[in-house]
Amino acid sequence: METRMTTSSHIAAPAAARSETIRLGPWHQSAVYTATVVLVATGAVWVVLHYFFAVPGEYGPQVHPLEPWMLKVHGAAAMAGLIVYGSLLPLHVRRAWTIRRNIVLGIALIGLLLVLTITGYLLYYAGDEELRPLVSAAHWIPGLVVPILLAWHVISGKAAARVGTVANRRRGGA
Ligand code: HEM
Ligand code: HEM
Repeated sequence: METRMTTSSHIAAPAAARSETIRLGPWHQSAVYTATVVLVATGAVWVVLHYFFAVPGEYGPQVHPLEPWMLKVHGAAAMAGLIVYGSLLPLHVRRAWTIRRNIVLGIALIGLLLVLTITGYLLYYAGDEELRPLVSAAHWIPGLVVPILLAWHVISGKAAARVGTVANRRRGGA
């Protein structure tokens, strides 16, 4: 009996359908933006409290009472964030990668998130007291770049998608 080879669905799918799966649905977008806003806001407030609002104490400056709360919310958002960002890999990243759309800013974003994940891990488990302030700065300084890079990524990705759609229509595609 003859067996027929089937092409994998992402190769056979028309360009319009592939673009469709790169775009995130409203819930998915909200999840990405909410996790990012909570991470950046709690991180930035922690930096301000830590460096500008230390509370004077009997034995020198003490941490501000809100600092541990910022970290509690930040840690929870980091765990949720890793799920949400990871959920972009199978469709969003894979499809955009396949059609080479917005990949420079996509790779930059993934690289930045990797730096944050590794330095975040080190903040939890690297106990060395001398290294900790360095790891801390290597975490929060790139962290402040996240909103800028994400906004740039979204704007350039949407522009590339518009150009791609127009070019595809001109070629007589969907
Ligand atoms: C993928 C995203 C991120 C992950 C996985 C992550 C993870 C972590 C972890 C695990 C900690 C240690 C918490 C603790 O000591 O209780 C931490 C601390 C911190 N994070 Fe993030 N974070 C992320 C994004 C950000 C962003 C966007 C900012 C923005 C400024 C930021 C700023 C900070 C700050 C200021 C601290 C406290 C540093 C210290 O204790 O010295 N993080 N983060
Ligand atoms: C190599 C990796 C990546 C590539 C090639 C890529 C590519 C793209 C493209 C082409 C668009 C425009 C989609 C359209 O409007 O049709 C886009 C939008 C977007 N990307 Fe990425 N991306 C990557 C990684 C990421 C990561 C890691 C995040 C999250 C932190 C992310 C978040 C977003 C968001 C929120 C949008 C706007 C929502 C939308 O247009 O549906 N991307 N990306």
